[in-house]
Amino acid sequence: MGPPGAGKGTQAEKVAGELNLAHVAPGDLFRQAVSRGDELGNEVKAYMERGELVPDAITIRVILGSLVNAHSGNGVVLDGFPRNINQARALDDALGKQNKAIDRAVYIKVDQKELVRRLSGRWLCSECQAPYFYDAKAEPKSNSCPNCGGKLYQRPDDKPETVEKRLQVYFDETSPLIDYYRKQNKLVEVCGEGGISEVKERIIKALGTTGVNNN
Ligand code: AP5
Ligand code: MG
Ligand code: ZN
Repeated sequence: MGPPGAGKGTQAEKVAGELNLAHVAPGDLFRQAVSRGDELGNEVKAYMERGELVPDAITIRVILGSLVNAHSGNGVVLDGFPRNINQARALDDALGKQNKAIDRAVYIKVDQKELVRRLSGRWLCSECQAPYFYDAKAEPKSNSCPNCGGKLYQRPDDKPETVEKRLQVYFDETSPLIDYYRKQNKLVEVCGEGGISEVKERIIKALGTTGVNNN
């Protein structure tokens, strides 16, 4: 968990790789659907462009479906889900029916000025979805992904007006989940500032602990 730009996608990918977990992210699934132009893409496009949450009925259906298909023998890192109390309850119910549960909720904390700076310089790979940062005004030196060669692009919802809306949606709808997981004694808090590998090490360390942790 964490606000837009906190590094959820960046860290989820690295942590999943290191711990051999699947990585499931509604934002990535929705963006892929929009770029395919399929039925799901048409359903979610306008919400994403406005920086609003996609309706729960769609999101819950897509994510619970992809959890069934994920190669999740070792477990799954969820990135950007749940994002409100209703989604969290739906997830707990669905996992409970399979005698499973969320082990940890990692809350990545980053100062708001830094969030806005990161989002204005973010470029994404159109193939593997990996995010990269290049200074706000500077275009990346090469237009292709260092990871897989895919074409890099900027997200339409990273425009300043939409970032503001996404931050507001985060504070109104998603931040109450911090208490939801804190009460279940599953919350670990990690400082998301500093180098990407430094933050990754903090998360890996925090995952080994129970309860609130102020790394
Ligand atoms: P989503 O794609 O989840 O966007 P978000 O939550 O706004 O988060 P971001 O992806 O913007 O940030 P991030 O934390 O992943 O940061 P990143 O690692 O890229 O959702 C998009 C939309 O989809 C929503 O608005 C909604 O419409 C819909 N949606 C998604 N989930 C939904 C749900 N559950 N319910 C309903 N609707 C939903 O990093 C950001 C930048 O910073 C990158 O450039 C990166 O390279 C850089 N960076 C990362 N770490 C560091 C570091 N340590 N130091 C310096 N730079 C760094
Ligand atoms: Mg992301
Ligand atoms: Zn790539």
